[in-house]
Amino acid sequence: MSIVVRTITNDEFDSWVRRSVLGFTGHASDELLRVARSGAEMDRTFGAFDGDDIVGTTTTRTSAITVPGGSVKMGFVDDVAVLSTHRRQGILTRMMRTQLEQMRERGEPLSALTASESLIYERFGYGIATWYHQWKIDRRHTAMNTHPKGGGRVQFISADAAREEWPRLHANVRKNRVGMVHYDTAYWRSVLWDAEYQRDGATEFFHVAYMRGDRVSGLCTYRRRERAIMVFFLLGEDAEIEAELWQYCFGIDLILEIQAWPRATDDPLVWRLEDPRRLEMILMDHMWLRLVDVREALSERGYADPASLTFRVHDKFCPWNDGTYLLEASEDGAECSRTNSAPQIELGASDLAAAYLGGVTFSTLARAGRVTEHAPCSLAKADRMFRTERQPWSLEL
Ligand SMILES: CC(C)(COP(=O)(O)OP(=O)(O)OC[C@H]1O[C@@H](n2cnc3c(N)ncnc32)[C@H](O)[C@@H]1OP(=O)(O)O)[C@@H](O)C(=O)NCCC(=O)NCCS
Repeated sequence: MSIVVRTITNDEFDSWVRRSVLGFTGHASDELLRVARSGAEMDRTFGAFDGDDIVGTTTTRTSAITVPGGSVKMGFVDDVAVLSTHRRQGILTRMMRTQLEQMRERGEPLSALTASESLIYERFGYGIATWYHQWKIDRRHTAMNTHPKGGGRVQFISADAAREEWPRLHANVRKNRVGMVHYDTAYWRSVLWDAEYQRDGATEFFHVAYMRGDRVSGLCTYRRRERAIMVFFLLGEDAEIEAELWQYCFGIDLILEIQAWPRATDDPLVWRLEDPRRLEMILMDHMWLRLVDVREALSERGYADPASLTFRVHDKFCPWNDGTYLLEASEDGAECSRTNSAPQIELGASDLAAAYLGGVTFSTLARAGRVTEHAPCSLAKADRMFRTERQPWSLEL
């Protein structure tokens, strides 16, 4: 079998979408083809071709992610699928390599994705950088012990208004929340599209805004299925506003249960509940991150502790990263360069990616047998440097 991996042409786009959906054992509707096309970046949309037939798909969305002290350019991988007739023959591996090489050429130090299964991506150097909780709570047990002081009011807004307001609020909150991802207009169009087939028997979206004066300071988007509401997106400019939006959700008459995801693992809501055990939480891996360029990625984030660290990274899949580095962090920024000095810690590319946003410490990874300490106290030093104030989190990916 001779497979060619390349970007597709405009004319090939519809078959590409159909093949991608088929890879997930689905059928693409005409409406999906139309919405998908409006946001497509053709020069980042890859197909694996068996003759004229597309048998594998993947795409990269041009994006960025909030890191401590700023925002870093990122290639977001999506629509990964290989037809069941062609699986386990190395097609995904070839597509990933082509895609990562393109990100490197474009100067994107990071790549991210969400995984349908957690067994797939570590081999390509991706690590779990953020986690989320999936929540479920019986409405009768949602009383709060501290009452939020948002200082505003909740009101319904139309779907059109929600399409206007979500990008604005999200861009504003994203600036200060490590892990949040830049979404373009096409992304918002597709997540708030609300097609019948996306509802899975539930209602259309309801949108409520939290208003401070005339300003939208928080938003909540949910559906109802039977006697439960499912909160897809809930975001506020501060914790008081988010708590007011939860109080709104908990106050909807006739509803018996509230479900929500993806919620941050350090979300304060649980501490506001009088009966916290009632909040059922399932932990899920969320964003898988990869350092496409170790030197750039580490130079572009800020550090909690001014210190220097030498470390050895093993990176078979992106061999240009493989080697030993010196990371020097100061109040004014950070510099990461190659070094001949002995490494203080040693780790794989996916472990460095998992620790990059501060979502897990190097010490924890060492206790899991994944990171090696060569010089005393180096793990503790690395932990202090990479620490972030809150758990990294993103609303949706
Ligand atoms: C996941 C998927 C894209 C893998 O494509 P593929 O072309 O079969 O992958 P490759 O042949 O390049 O596999 C590379 C390695 O990953 C392993 N692998 C791939 N998918 C795996 C999975 N789902 N579970 C466990 N291992 C997997 C392979 O066994 C292989 O291991 P090896 O190198 O030790 O032999 C394909 O199975 C698929 O389309 N699945 C359904 C849609 C989906 O889940 N997409 C991912 C969305 S995030």
